[in-house]
Amino acid sequence: MNQNELKKAAAMAALDFIQDDAIVGVGTGSTVAYFIEGLGNIKHKVQGAVSSSEDSTNKLKALGIEVFELNNVDSLDIYVDGADEITAHKHMIKGGGAALTREKIVAAVAKTFVCVVDQSKQVDVLGQFPLPVEVIPMARSYVARELVKLGGDPVWRQGVVTDNGNVILDVHNLTILNPVELEGQINQIAGVVTNGLFARRGADIVLVAGAGGVKQL
Ligand code: 5RP
Repeated sequence: MNQNELKKAAAMAALDFIQDDAIVGVGTGSTVAYFIEGLGNIKHKVQGAVSSSEDSTNKLKALGIEVFELNNVDSLDIYVDGADEITAHKHMIKGGGAALTREKIVAAVAKTFVCVVDQSKQVDVLGQFPLPVEVIPMARSYVARELVKLGGDPVWRQGVVTDNGNVILDVHNLTILNPVELEGQINQIAGVVTNGLFARRGADIVLVAGAGGVKQL
């Protein structure tokens, strides 16, 4: 199977975790795009979704799935999303699709975070994938200087404006041995909205698709 087929296999496996009448938290990205397609096939079974990006909202609505405002939902049983890197501790780097802030908010509300990945996303140590940081535009240069002090090489993701009107710095050359600590440190920098480390609230269930099928961690 190629990588897209593996992404699809992991995404389809997440459908088994959707309970009747659920409101489903939906992430962003190419793996989640397969999940949304699958959700379309069982849309009669669910109330609808809470979305983590304009892109996913458009895909959900195109399939006739109702999209609820997070503020109008008291609780979410499940959030399904992909990752750019994930460890055995279920800590992740996310934000390759620039949707990290809304993803982190929806994940915070959800009781269960189901992460869907192909096996190429599994790593021993986070940081090979540049860490995305969402930044208020006027703080871009200041935040970049602070990120250099933390040992990274930030690169402005040119031409990208997030759904929240902000910019992304991708931080290269980090070897992230303590993701819980670094997540907090970066979020303390004035002007940072959030960073793509999902360690304080990691995944609960990981569905990894590989040559031997989909494994649950
Ligand atoms: C978007 C994300 C995605 O989950 C992450 O980039 C993985 O994407 P893909 O499923 O396309 O590989 O965090 O902000």
